[in-house]
Amino acid sequence: MAKGGIKNYVSRRAIKAYCMLRGAKQNPKLAKDYVLLRFHVFLSKLGNKLNFYHEPKLKSIVSAKIELTQACPSKCITCNFWRINSMMNGCEIKENKLKHGEFEDLLRQLKKMNCNAVQLLGGETLAYRRAPELIKLASLLGMKTNIITNGILMTPEIAKEIGESGLTTIGFSIDGPKKINDHIRGHKDAFEKQINAIKLIQKYDKENKIHKSICVTISVPNVEYLDKIMDIANEVGIKEVSYYMMSTYSEDTKEQTDDLFKEKVGSLEFMVPSSLAAKDKFLLDKKRKEILKKAKEYGIVVRGQFFTKEMVDVDKAIRREDKFCITPYKFCTIDCYGHVYPCDLLRYSFGNIRKNSLKEILNSARYSKFSKIYIKKFKDIKICRYCPLYGPI
Ligand SMILES: C[S@@+](CC[C@H](N)C(=O)[O-])C[C@H]1O[C@@H](n2cnc3c(N)ncnc32)[C@H](O)[C@@H]1O
Ligand code: SF4
Repeated sequence: MAKGGIKNYVSRRAIKAYCMLRGAKQNPKLAKDYVLLRFHVFLSKLGNKLNFYHEPKLKSIVSAKIELTQACPSKCITCNFWRINSMMNGCEIKENKLKHGEFEDLLRQLKKMNCNAVQLLGGETLAYRRAPELIKLASLLGMKTNIITNGILMTPEIAKEIGESGLTTIGFSIDGPKKINDHIRGHKDAFEKQINAIKLIQKYDKENKIHKSICVTISVPNVEYLDKIMDIANEVGIKEVSYYMMSTYSEDTKEQTDDLFKEKVGSLEFMVPSSLAAKDKFLLDKKRKEILKKAKEYGIVVRGQFFTKEMVDVDKAIRREDKFCITPYKFCTIDCYGHVYPCDLLRYSFGNIRKNSLKEILNSARYSKFSKIYIKKFKDIKICRYCPLYGPI
């Protein structure tokens, strides 16, 4: 590892350790369960090598994502939400959407499982009109809350409700200057509407308590303009910009995941053409330097895998290789039909919150079945290599 690489690695570990210690103080039960869980996952991995099976049990959840809706007014070229009308794994939709009271009950169940943070997402988060009420409830229950929005549906009323909801963080998706952004987002006014949304939230977040950032998904059409987003952030007074590599995988990758689990599991969410993935390392490096220069000039913090992870193999979009991902043991995604999954890309339904409690679902035979396959085969689950959390950079 180069000298700068070691320095970055050490500072990242130090920040992580600090955050963990701070989190442990705020939520000691969660911290204790999490440390125990890591130990059990370690035993499971060891058991796998030595041919005995040990199952990690989930007592607490560190964080969760609730997909409030799969609807979206945008037509992004990098995303399939707006295109797909089936469960995200390709199964037919048989259930009705969760009612508001069921979302509220879910939040209470998450709290009982010591959950520290919830992400309320879509599709487009604000396409679920009562999202601010859920943010408010989650905040009252003591959980941190995060939303990401394309801003298209933002109104002064919604901004006011969000401003008063106790929301912890909001990400505004912007993929470039107007022309590029609107092309990627498939909506002719996406850029203006997002800028308007930022201004409205700034206006109604009177005490400036909500952490605001711009989220950028890097793809071929915007790679040349990545540094321009720093100018936009500076103009609208946003002090953090996160750059993420676009996730992309083929139908074969989804099918390989389905074959491993012997059912429809691979998500269709980011099964978008790999030709959209920015692969020019030279250009990416150049842009990274330009962004960092502007970050210094404007006093803006930059985040996201584009800065925090090493470039591994952009062509094959491989990051994780054979590294074990603990996400299914500390996190869960719940969709708008009530199904509980280990994460976004592995849509293996453990059960439905309409039939069982979250705790029962996460301690069920279905969960064990998943866990057995996952522990045994994690190196072979190809779709995980394309996860936005473990993207190519
Ligand atoms: C799926 S969207 C949902 C929230 C909202 N509709 C929005 O666009 O902000 C969440 C984030 O994923 C990003 N995204 C879209 N396509 C992606 C892809 N192929 N890989 C990784 N992230 C992607 C979006 O730009 C957005 O910042
Ligand atoms: S990225 Fe967001 S705005 Fe774009 S289609 Fe997907 S869910 Fe909609």
